[in-house]
Amino acid sequence: MKKSFILGIELLLLGGLTSLASNLRCAKTVFSQPNVRFMQKVRISDGQGVVTVKGLPSGLKWNAKRQIVEGKVKKEGVYSYTISYNHNGKIEDAQVKLTVSSQLQLPVPFMGWLSWNSVEGDISESIVKQVADMFHANGLYDAGWNAVMMDDLWQARTGRAVDGKPLPDPKRFPNGLRSVADYVHSKGMKFGLYTDAADKTCAGAFGSYGYEKIDADQYAEWNVDVVKCDYCNAPSEQDTAIVRYGRMGDAFKQAKRPMTLYICEWGVREPWQWGAEAGGSCWRISADVRDGWTCEPGGAGVMQCIDIMKNISEYSGVNRFNDSDMLCVGLHGTGHSSNDLCFGHPGMTQDEYRTQFALWCMWSSPMALSFDPRTNTLTDDDLAILKNRRLIALNQDRMGQQADLISESDQMVVFAKDLENGDVAISVTNLSDKTSEATFDFAKIPALDARKSYKCQDLWTGEHLNPVKGGFTVSVRSHTTMVYRLSK
Ligand code: GLA
Repeated sequence: MKKSFILGIELLLLGGLTSLASNLRCAKTVFSQPNVRFMQKVRISDGQGVVTVKGLPSGLKWNAKRQIVEGKVKKEGVYSYTISYNHNGKIEDAQVKLTVSSQLQLPVPFMGWLSWNSVEGDISESIVKQVADMFHANGLYDAGWNAVMMDDLWQARTGRAVDGKPLPDPKRFPNGLRSVADYVHSKGMKFGLYTDAADKTCAGAFGSYGYEKIDADQYAEWNVDVVKCDYCNAPSEQDTAIVRYGRMGDAFKQAKRPMTLYICEWGVREPWQWGAEAGGSCWRISADVRDGWTCEPGGAGVMQCIDIMKNISEYSGVNRFNDSDMLCVGLHGTGHSSNDLCFGHPGMTQDEYRTQFALWCMWSSPMALSFDPRTNTLTDDDLAILKNRRLIALNQDRMGQQADLISESDQMVVFAKDLENGDVAISVTNLSDKTSEATFDFAKIPALDARKSYKCQDLWTGEHLNPVKGGFTVSVRSHTTMVYRLSK
């Protein structure tokens, strides 16, 4: 039976999961870097009650108009405050723990490469090295792409060593993993690998369940930086997932090297509600990405990612990012697993790839390319998309805010993203199949003041446009995304 089919069934079965969230929707474990602007959004799902916030550390204030906690905390430390929601005398409280530190695992989303979509079981020392070299040769490294991560099937087919330690496949990693990590580090990049919170991974290699401590110690010995931890072959309940990822997170905390835990349970059990508490710094929010604008159930095209991400922006922030999965930019339908469920037509147009990149940047989603270095399908135009520093700056903004949905129709989707320096990025995506005009209405964008004039830069071209006030209208090609940065 195909794996995507099994995953699809699990997604359907768990579709009815009751949300842990109360009417008060906010993250309970949040992070900031010292002296960097911080923001936490609070959302209410049932109407008109009043939110109040008590016990904020010095430097932060409650912005009741926008329903956000904002400001800058100077000193490192762990702080707590209470967010209360009073609706006709019924009170709901959320205790929030804020960690201010310059040593966070993932202060900004990773930008790297993951082997799965195209390389699958061929992952090897030579492929990892080729990717690290390519990122330097084609300028991606200079633009900020700095992590090489191995997905499933790096493991020895024969299983663990007799002492229980994890083993890489000896044929494909003849020099062991430490030397691979050292090579990636010598290139100034981070090194990642993959495991699963069960006995077996999705592709059938050994997983980490019951071996969390041994694995965390060995990964640290190998000098690993990021660990993607999948959830195939594990019990479906949310409680069990919280316990299993918590065991992994605890083992990482005790390891002698800081390592980022990247949770991958496909968003089914709402990891944005508990992932940070389990020790994760980012979590997948959807089924596996497909190289398509839209795809059959069981996978996620760009449209399916929009549908999920638009509802969970308040849960994303510094060191707790919602992850929309690998980018397909540069694949052009040449991937393997990413070609499944694409209505038989894998691959996207350049405008659709532009949209994928622009939205992942607007959302501060972690980004991983997934091309095969042996065939190198990246064109000059793909590289121009991926090296756009103005868009990368949105993804890597130190305030880590995911863009909020402003409006949506069958034709257009508009997002707005708060940035650390007070600027606001706005985007519009044309979902229709012909070029159409779209209007940004500043009165509908809480981060903007409709009475003020803003400088406006087109982030695709870099062109500075005339100042704008109240809003403006743009022409958007089918399936592409226009992005602007507005400054006071
Ligand atoms: C799952 C994950 C994918 C990939 C594969 C590997 O499907 O969601 O991203 O890691 O497993 O088997």
